[in-house]
Amino acid sequence: GYGGLPDRDGKVTLDACIMDEFGNSGAVMFLEKIMHPIKVARLVMEKTPHVQLVGEGALKFALQNGFKQENLLTPASEKAWKDWLKNSKYDPMTIPKLLQQKTVKDGRGQEHNHDTIGMLALDAAGNLSGACTTSGMAFKMHGRVGDSPIIGAGLFVDNEVGAATSTGVGEEVVCICGSHTVIELMRQGLSPEEACKKTCERIVHKRGEKAKELQVGFIAVDRSGNFSGYALQKGFTYAVQTAEGSKVYDAKSIF
Ligand code: GLY
Repeated sequence: GYGGLPDRDGKVTLDACIMDEFGNSGAVMFLEKIMHPIKVARLVMEKTPHVQLVGEGALKFALQNGFKQENLLTPASEKAWKDWLKNSKYDPMTIPKLLQQKTVKDGRGQEHNHDTIGMLALDAAGNLSGACTTSGMAFKMHGRVGDSPIIGAGLFVDNEVGAATSTGVGEEVVCICGSHTVIELMRQGLSPEEACKKTCERIVHKRGEKAKELQVGFIAVDRSGNFSGYALQKGFTYAVQTAEGSKVYDAKSIF
């Protein structure tokens, strides 16, 4: 949330979803002014009969549950937006590339070039869960929602099979039900790496040459704790935390 790059109107709008080992799910989309949208998504799962709350309704629900409204647009993210406004070029395929060339410092001085965090967990009892949260594609249209808060696209957990999550150009992930596809491929016997790779290949198959301009990455873990990731382009890394410690891995890529 804080320091996430805003939409083309200068608004930071947030998306998040969460899913537990029973298939319970909660999501918020197009939520403004709340620092940690994933906490609101969790409350949607735990306290409402619904799965998704959007926009003003999601904000109202957050405020009713004690969350505070905050300004999430930092001076650094405001500057990045104002720099972008000079040309106002909006192309979801090239923006990730631009951001890779010029990393943006957030309000805490940390550098980053994308804002999505997907997290998968396998607990000591062997149960899987996951969460995904983002401020979405930088300089998107006001109201745009990507893959991250959509169960089956940005995140999917099936406790009998595995868990998967994604990052990158959300439009591409939504159109192939990305994380669900990874899990269904694992159900058919593919390893997490093979399943993530085959799902990336589906985007390449659909988009052809255009896929060379896109970045999408998946990570997945199975019930035994086997994990992997795969991306369209080089440069996608993921971190794994186990009882032995943490390690950052470079995912393999198609291109
Ligand atoms: N994958 C994040 C988004 O497209 O919003």
